[in-house]
Amino acid sequence: MPVSRMALWQTVERNRNMNITYNEKNRIFKLDTPNTSYCIGVVDEENFLGHVYYGRLLGSDDLAYLMRTGEPPFVPSENNRDRTSFLDTFPMEYTGHNLGDYREGAFSVRTMGGHTGVSLSYVSHRIYDGKEALDGLPATFGGNDECKTLDIVCEDSILKLQVVLSYSIFADTDAIARSVKVINNGGDAIYLTKVLSACMDMDNADYEMITLHGSWARERAIQTCPIRKGKQSVGSVRGESSHQEHPFMAWKSRTVTEEAGDVYAMNFVYSGNFIAQIEESQFGSIRAMMGIHPEDFCWKLEPGERFQAPEVICVYSAKGLGGMTRNFHELYRNHLIRGIYKDKKRPILINNWEATYFDFDTDKLLDIARQASALGIEMLVMDDGWFGHRNDDNSSLGDWFVNESKIKGGLKYLVDEVNKLGMKFGIWVEPEMISPDSDLYREHPDWAIQIPGRVGSLARNQYVLDLTRKEVRDCVYDRIAAVLRSANIEYVKWDMNRQLSDLGSLGLPADRQGELVHRQTLALYEMQERLITDFPNLLLENCSGGGARFDPGMLYYSPQIWCSDDADAIERLSIQAGTALVYPLSTMGAHVSDCPNHTVGRTTPFETRGYVALAGTFGYELDVTKIPEADRNRIPEQVAMYHKYNDLVRQGDYYRIAHYADNHFYDCYAVVAKDQSEALVTYVQVLGRPNVHSRRICIPGLDSEKTYVIENAADWPEIRQTAYRGDTLHYAGIHVPPISGDFKARIMHLKEK
Ligand code: GLA
Repeated sequence: MPVSRMALWQTVERNRNMNITYNEKNRIFKLDTPNTSYCIGVVDEENFLGHVYYGRLLGSDDLAYLMRTGEPPFVPSENNRDRTSFLDTFPMEYTGHNLGDYREGAFSVRTMGGHTGVSLSYVSHRIYDGKEALDGLPATFGGNDECKTLDIVCEDSILKLQVVLSYSIFADTDAIARSVKVINNGGDAIYLTKVLSACMDMDNADYEMITLHGSWARERAIQTCPIRKGKQSVGSVRGESSHQEHPFMAWKSRTVTEEAGDVYAMNFVYSGNFIAQIEESQFGSIRAMMGIHPEDFCWKLEPGERFQAPEVICVYSAKGLGGMTRNFHELYRNHLIRGIYKDKKRPILINNWEATYFDFDTDKLLDIARQASALGIEMLVMDDGWFGHRNDDNSSLGDWFVNESKIKGGLKYLVDEVNKLGMKFGIWVEPEMISPDSDLYREHPDWAIQIPGRVGSLARNQYVLDLTRKEVRDCVYDRIAAVLRSANIEYVKWDMNRQLSDLGSLGLPADRQGELVHRQTLALYEMQERLITDFPNLLLENCSGGGARFDPGMLYYSPQIWCSDDADAIERLSIQAGTALVYPLSTMGAHVSDCPNHTVGRTTPFETRGYVALAGTFGYELDVTKIPEADRNRIPEQVAMYHKYNDLVRQGDYYRIAHYADNHFYDCYAVVAKDQSEALVTYVQVLGRPNVHSRRICIPGLDSEKTYVIENAADWPEIRQTAYRGDTLHYAGIHVPPISGDFKARIMHLKEK
């Protein structure tokens, strides 16, 4: 095909999957993703911006009636006496504040005169191919042929404040990335007291709200509640996305299943304080909002300056919760995760944390490495305790110098010896922290986040470094970079083991103290960007006391995140199900650990621990020299299993089949290859039951026309029939025999015949 015709054909193809239009006549913007439409309207002489529609793909933009401007109280040009009633009911695309919309808004300011009124009207727009990066922030990305963007410029003409609402859509997934930029075109500085990143008004159709809640070692449990009148919100004011609540919410029809029904969702590409809220109004409409938590937030914007709020990913799925999940997975795998490991198998690692805690030295680590390499494990990770004089968790954070009384012979010697075994070497760091018992703190007590005159609140006997100060960032970064340059270190686990408190920076003036937490988050991003730029071959794994900072913001820097300090196989079923509701399996740090489990004291079979860890990055968190021989002997089998299935697990489509948190007895999920040529089903019988029949399991996602055989039929001796059509597996299902005992697991590999 000649080049110009080829280019034309590509444009037609792309526009079939995604398109953004503005209809001058009815003043409607329409954003079409492969299966959804999102519409925004401009109304009245005052150019109010309204949310019109979000749902299944529509062929027409003739939708202005949905904004109900033809009903009382009417638009202000027709009825200004009831202006507040209009503002309080109109489905706003993005809100103003203090002028008559009494629902909670997404945006608020305080002028130098102390006033808080702000009103935003449409001024202009721009539609373009591709997507611009967000200054200093993690964000989804895509080439000119992969995504399109709409920027809508709104303005408060009194304050001379511009707000740019950005919407990007993607040709390969039903997601919309939204963000907000504020530009001060006025002559005076202004304080931004709230700049949320997305707001969406729509009618409530008896929706239920889904959020993820948790605690240390119990991260991301799925919680579902009906939406009631008034506000329901989750959030974090802990300086990180947190164990406790998660920057994700969905609202769905009550009858939704994994495969059918309406689901709307928002996920915040950010790692600091957040709020996610749904408010149902007096008239039954709902307003969903997400963004930086306004508590303790106040940003001073000087004339000419801009403020960029982070990105929210919006997803609508008519194909139930499973459809929502697969849209997020696709978006994050293709348009958020970067680096050389983006599409690559990760080395199987062994981490010494639960093996030794702080009690290790070169000899002990080399013993572990020797044994591990003989079993096929590919990388040794030296966890907390290698620096300063850290022999417990009371000291030395900030003193990033190798403790040669433990690491005898020096770090380079240790790493070289590990490399000689054919293994890679990785290291643990916690750059954002400072121990009061550290040379760094004795030299720079002012470098900790603190309120002058108050004794700071300790957590794990440590303070948080004030990274908003460049000299602090540079000092810590340089120390850690020097360690990384001193030996062949190919992996870093970046930890964060306490949340922020005592918010105060000795580096910021009084009227900028409200910028601290966001600036701290930006500083974290800057440091991680620097790290992956200076060390492009490094595998970075983020972590925060387990999984307290498992969010899309961190995924922009590290392709994997430690999911939880709880590596018990049964606890992990819930933690991983909640995590995989939004995030691809390739991102979930998951290890086989020793028993009785160090967190819950439970004993589960070694095989079960292996099958559950297979749903994540896969590795070991145990002293391989000390575990029972029978367990050790199983490691080569598990290593082979990882190599056989990891491509499928990392790249395939994930389907939830049954969850023991709902049924109390068993858990089941499948990963299906994109070309539907194979699937891996994981089945965990959490509790055995007496006197029961086999259990019927339906396996979705396969090609109805194809026939599949159970490739590992030898592992399922009770199942006599080993070949099934895809539609049979999906709709009629397969019979899984009762297995004797608790915590038993098996996998089933289905292959196209
Ligand atoms: C956190 C991490 C653990 C381990 C310890 C070390 O809790 O989640 O995996 O690295 O810190 O102190």
